[in-house]
Amino acid sequence: MKPTKKQIERAAELRDVIRHHNRQYFQQDSPDIPDADYDALLAELHQLEADHPELHVDDSPTDDIGAPVLDGATFAPVIHAVPMKSLDKAFSTEEFDAWVVRLDRRIDNESGPGAYVCELKFDGLAISVRYENGELVQAATRGNGVVGEDVTENIRTIDGVPKSLGKKFKGKGAPSVLEVRGEIYLAISDFDQLNAQREKAGEALYANPRNTAAGSLRQKDPSVTASRNLQWFAYQLGQVEGGPAFTRHSETFEFLDDLGFPVNDQVKVLDSPDQVKAYFEDAERRRHEFDYETDGAVAKVDSLAVQDVLGSTSHHPRWAIAFKFQPEEKTTKLLDIAVSIGSKGKATPFAVLEPVFVGGSTVQMATLHNEDQVQAKDVRPGDTVIVRKAGDVIPEVLGPVLSDRPKSRKPWTFPASCPSCAQPLTRDEGDAAHYCLNLQCPQQLVGRIEHFAARSGMDIEGFGERTVALFIEHDLLHDVADIYNLDFDRIRDLEGFGETSVTNLSAAIEESKQRELGDLLMALNIRHLGNTGSRVVASALGHLDKILEASEEELAAVDGVGPTIAKSLAQFFGDDHNRDVIDRLRTAGVNFAGPERDESAPQTLEGLTVVISGTLANFGRDDAKTAVTSRGGKSPGSISKKTTALVVGESPGASKVSKAEELGVPMLDEAGFEHLLETGQLPG
Ligand code: IVH
Repeated sequence: MKPTKKQIERAAELRDVIRHHNRQYFQQDSPDIPDADYDALLAELHQLEADHPELHVDDSPTDDIGAPVLDGATFAPVIHAVPMKSLDKAFSTEEFDAWVVRLDRRIDNESGPGAYVCELKFDGLAISVRYENGELVQAATRGNGVVGEDVTENIRTIDGVPKSLGKKFKGKGAPSVLEVRGEIYLAISDFDQLNAQREKAGEALYANPRNTAAGSLRQKDPSVTASRNLQWFAYQLGQVEGGPAFTRHSETFEFLDDLGFPVNDQVKVLDSPDQVKAYFEDAERRRHEFDYETDGAVAKVDSLAVQDVLGSTSHHPRWAIAFKFQPEEKTTKLLDIAVSIGSKGKATPFAVLEPVFVGGSTVQMATLHNEDQVQAKDVRPGDTVIVRKAGDVIPEVLGPVLSDRPKSRKPWTFPASCPSCAQPLTRDEGDAAHYCLNLQCPQQLVGRIEHFAARSGMDIEGFGERTVALFIEHDLLHDVADIYNLDFDRIRDLEGFGETSVTNLSAAIEESKQRELGDLLMALNIRHLGNTGSRVVASALGHLDKILEASEEELAAVDGVGPTIAKSLAQFFGDDHNRDVIDRLRTAGVNFAGPERDESAPQTLEGLTVVISGTLANFGRDDAKTAVTSRGGKSPGSISKKTTALVVGESPGASKVSKAEELGVPMLDEAGFEHLLETGQLPG
């Protein structure tokens, strides 16, 4: 059955969302959703792709084994001799039973897969340590499973990692190559101690042991890693050449133990699936007895011969499965609901909780996302609330314990004004979030100014987050207009600012005054106005003054603008503070005019709509769009029934292509696009 439009869109959305969370988890060491929610998103995408194989695109996150390979990684890449695959997952005993059935089906011998080795699933950082002739030669993170990062020097600082395997394991009878895989972790007690020290020193607290361990390992300076008391458990062999011949996975544990590798004491060999399930349940019940974090338990087929028969998918071996523990819940008191202001003015309510130990660490705050969420959960300051910490990541308030609530307790209402600048907070119809629209709001300053100067906006070279933060700290910047009135004499005195950098910065600022109106609108960070919207508004109105003069209705009537953007523009430019900033930008000589209309271009595309996706050889990203608009056509970001054609460059968006297919919109290659620009006709 062909996927529906909804399913196509949902798959595209899931891919984007999952990729975002991959970056947060693997690259920033800072996940922003619970593991369980992440797993649910991934499972949903897996299911959609299984039901409709055409939804499976080449670079789907369902193909990823682990972290995406980092761009600009600090560590050298290491290609794993044997890929470091992931584990298949079961979220219930039924799913585990189904796995056992699959095993039985794949093995044709009567006695089935035989015994299972049961282990805990440690929530740390996978690592592969390579020994050649008994000496540690390399250690690498898992990375994307195929290529990891070389962290040898940092791993060498960890006491539990043998640097040399000793006489017994050198020379004859010993493996010439031995890769030992395991999990690096920070003990919960060490994590708590570290946070206690940080609290005393007035430093920000670390979120959880896993991210702290990951951050500690990914240090450029190995002495920082050394100071953290990282530990590890060895649980699997990678490449092995020579040495004893093993027939069972359990034998490798004895071997590793003999060599001096730390092996976890909960490993058990069990004969039947029922015993395995009992192990899972027992492990889950006792998970807090351990001084390390676990997020599940693992069962592996013990016989290496059976493992060979079963083989692997591109993602995981078929001979192992991870049973995931349930996310954990505790109750505590909701002391207050406060509101934080993000760098783009978004006002997010969060729960201030009486500290509670849940999921292995102490929780005292949890986001409540927005007003609707607070209302839906019906949590009120003073309530006893249920807090869940899924996968030991971000805590979540599930809801109140209503039996504890006195009748007199009033529902919480969203504050009318910004806690940072006291200006009104606004929420638009159809939008879940409240915003502080004040350009000068101190909380938003760094983000806003950085955005203004970014490449997508005024493109001021050398004006990144650190410079912005430094200038704000020295009282040199209060809003974006101050950029054009900087006191360079004072900047010259700041650390890191020599004569050359001051000259370069001043030239870059001066140059930015010539940007077009579309860039300026983009730079001002007006809600709902993205890159395409900014260009549409700029080319339709041509000058900022026209926008300032226009009423909301007039703006909404502009082709390609619509009521949401019109309202946002009217609100933004109606604000007194923002008007003041605009006046000062004008005085500074910033260009307010839109793109020059290319009058010479023949208006071949009048009335036509051409969507561009992917990279083209002869046009830059915005050039292709400009080529369309300067010929009188429209070039929005998405496809509809009215779209004349979709131009497909290299690596186009899969959702655009499938939508074009679905709606029967013609697709053009670059040559076809050039033909269309020239003649206004689709190629014959
Ligand atoms: S075995 C081919 N055993 O789980 C199987 N992995 O989802 C390789 N993990 O990257 C892994 N405890 O970081 C194995 N006892 C255990 C584990 C374990 C935790 C992690 C490991 C791996 C991830 C796979």
